[in-house]
Amino acid sequence: MDRLEQAKLLEDMLPENGHPKVHEDAHMDMSSADYYFNSYAHFGIHEEMLRDEIRTESYMRAILDNAPCFSAKAVLDVGCGTGILSIFAARAGARAVYAVDCSKIVDQAREIVRKNGMENVVTVIEGKMEEIELPEKVDIIISEWMGYFLFYESMLDTVIYARDKFLKPGGLLFPNETKLYICGIEDGKYKSYKYDFWHDVYGVDMSHIKNIALTEPLVDIVNPEQVSTDRVELLTVDISTVKKEDLACVSPFRVKSWRTDSCHALVCYFDVTFSAGDNTVYFTTAPQSKSTHWKQTVFYLDESIYMEAGEEISGVLAMRPSKKNPRDLDIAIQYSFDGKHSAARNTLRYRLS
Ligand SMILES: C[S@@+](CC[C@H](N)C(=O)[O-])C[C@H]1O[C@@H](n2cnc3c(N)ncnc32)[C@H](O)[C@@H]1O
Repeated sequence: MDRLEQAKLLEDMLPENGHPKVHEDAHMDMSSADYYFNSYAHFGIHEEMLRDEIRTESYMRAILDNAPCFSAKAVLDVGCGTGILSIFAARAGARAVYAVDCSKIVDQAREIVRKNGMENVVTVIEGKMEEIELPEKVDIIISEWMGYFLFYESMLDTVIYARDKFLKPGGLLFPNETKLYICGIEDGKYKSYKYDFWHDVYGVDMSHIKNIALTEPLVDIVNPEQVSTDRVELLTVDISTVKKEDLACVSPFRVKSWRTDSCHALVCYFDVTFSAGDNTVYFTTAPQSKSTHWKQTVFYLDESIYMEAGEEISGVLAMRPSKKNPRDLDIAIQYSFDGKHSAARNTLRYRLS
């Protein structure tokens, strides 16, 4: 698909001013940027991230196992939170680490840096990455920017800004690549429990709420035994070259059932690679691996698709940051299935907010 075709498909699937009505009715405008930054001021959200061993240990190994890259270098930590990654970088021998965060967690980060005797190396800077200045360009950018479904509330646009403004030519990014995947799952029991509930609530028909609920992807841990298709890559993000415009995109997919079963939902998850140094570190948020705080993102279909082993659902996933609140994501999935027993095609729209 060339860029023009992609842009047309994106506009067809996610028209600029054509959010599904249910979204507008269903969501109060709670998710402002202020709300987002305030949420990071409290230590609780950082505790959840720090306790995510897959996440934090991967960053630690990526930095410490590549200590020669960091030795005597200037490093920028985009969205430093408690300062954990900055301290890893200092331990790896960095000469100067600029730890930037716009939330009040910087007060804790400063104290943590001081208590750990790193204040000669780590400078904590309070402010929006897009609004601050640094005393020098840096050799390395480290950042934990990923959100649910990789891009939800993600700070990738901030990392892109920091890369283009502050990274020296040839500088390194940790991580430097992420991939987003999609697969199908059998999930009839839970889907019925969660959505069919609205048909009859103490004898009251509330079924229109089911349609609203189906537009909200569910962030949850998927039982790997429920995965019924192979997984396919939706897209690769090369963090050293990605542009902000690339975050609105369409990706075709084709998932093949590996057993005869019903498919109730499509599930997305991502992996993250640190291969800028000599020692590559990788982690995944796949259902088959130890779970992370990102879990997986489940897009329930409005019908269940009975698939024989080897049959395929093909489709296109389109996404773009919401016009109303760029930290929200509008997502559309267009799918079609022509099986031995049935056929299905539809375009479903979702919003992660
Ligand atoms: C996912 S947390 C990661 C915290 C820490 N690096 C860690 O790994 O535990 C992201 C942090 O980025 C900060 N942040 C988000 N957008 C930012 C921006 N534009 N400028 C500065 N900080 C930002 C948030 O306040 C939050 O503390």
